[in-house]
Amino acid sequence: MSLPQPPTPHAYSLGGMRIGVATAATQIEGGDTGNQWYEWSLQPGRVADGSSPLRATDHWNRWREDTELLASLGLPLYRMGVEWSRLEPHRGRFDPETLAHYREELSALRERGIEPLVTLHHFSNPTWFERAGGWTVPDAVDTWLRFVRHVVEGLGDLVTEWCTINEPNVYATGGYLFGEMPPGRTGDWRGLRRVLRHLAVAHCRAYHLVHELQPGRGTRVGFAHHLRVFDPLDPGNPVHRGLARLSEHLFQDVLSDAMLGGRFSRLLGGQPREVRPGPHYDYLGVNYYSRTAVSRLADGTFPGEPVNDLGWEIHPQGLVDVVRGLHERHPGPVWITENGVCDGSDAYRARFLHDHLGALAGSGLPVERYYHWCFVDNWEWSEGDVPRFGIVHLDHSSQERTVKDSGRFLSEAARRGE
Ligand code: FCB
Repeated sequence: MSLPQPPTPHAYSLGGMRIGVATAATQIEGGDTGNQWYEWSLQPGRVADGSSPLRATDHWNRWREDTELLASLGLPLYRMGVEWSRLEPHRGRFDPETLAHYREELSALRERGIEPLVTLHHFSNPTWFERAGGWTVPDAVDTWLRFVRHVVEGLGDLVTEWCTINEPNVYATGGYLFGEMPPGRTGDWRGLRRVLRHLAVAHCRAYHLVHELQPGRGTRVGFAHHLRVFDPLDPGNPVHRGLARLSEHLFQDVLSDAMLGGRFSRLLGGQPREVRPGPHYDYLGVNYYSRTAVSRLADGTFPGEPVNDLGWEIHPQGLVDVVRGLHERHPGPVWITENGVCDGSDAYRARFLHDHLGALAGSGLPVERYYHWCFVDNWEWSEGDVPRFGIVHLDHSSQERTVKDSGRFLSEAARRGE
């Protein structure tokens, strides 16, 4: 795959959009055996390269070094997660040392002028929760909200920006339809629907809970929606066209309407008693990676289009298209909570950045923030250690970090910023 090298980041104006990087606790911390991903990684064949989240980037021990590195790149924004299984290792019993650990890290970020955006659920559950049925059971919502309360009460003086849930559509389809994520079910439509409903209710209630605990205008709550472009493989084929529209509706719109608009379709089991229609967001969080060529209900690509190391099409205009579509349905300020590329050689990541940032800059859409996925090369769930999404290279055996060319590119773009 060869994309030309980018011109300098000065080729367009970012119009005040601020830039940072995004991470997730399970993918970087290492050392935690209490979550369902660790158990998953022990099952043969579940993780492509046989690796586990136990090592990852050892961020749990190296967060000081990582914070310095982030500051040295001049990035003003950092999206990070907190590991539920570390904070609540047993149902209802919270670990004060873990909370203290995150407090230290968050204070260090703040001291360096870096604004944290904290994700409360990013694919990872404690094993005690998973064994009790995970998100398929209705009391999952209350169980998680107790955890949310604990975190917001414990960290609220250091954090005002929250991302409740990461990519509920990817989490639920990966775990219940495609068997690519724990608990590894395939074709479990009933489970899928329950999980989506509970996650959507959880977000809506968390939105109000966080605002109740942190009254004030500075509090910003949203969720990170995974959006992709669904285009018919053959635009002349009515089946392809119909399936593209259906995928878009089922995979994204039904959830945006519930989680942002508080309106639950019959597909999600109808309006829950505890959620009233109305806005449940302070920003529109968008994770965007790729486009799907639709000819059936599965991922496909358009022949001849550039793809990344994992075979995902690189389609910068799609970022603008999905943001525009969401913004028309649910107006509000946009935060790109993830966008990135698997490029092991770092040969085309700077170009990717240039094209995606440029597309946003020229779009006229109110995009306030851009969090690039990811910071240091990390553990990519069922793909393992091999895929490299970072702007910082990780040597897995020595844990040495080296800033890539694309990292310098992003840093320059961020410094130029406003
Ligand atoms: C997203 C996930 C993130 C990472 C990237 C590559 O779907 O939110 O954790 O795995 O994909």
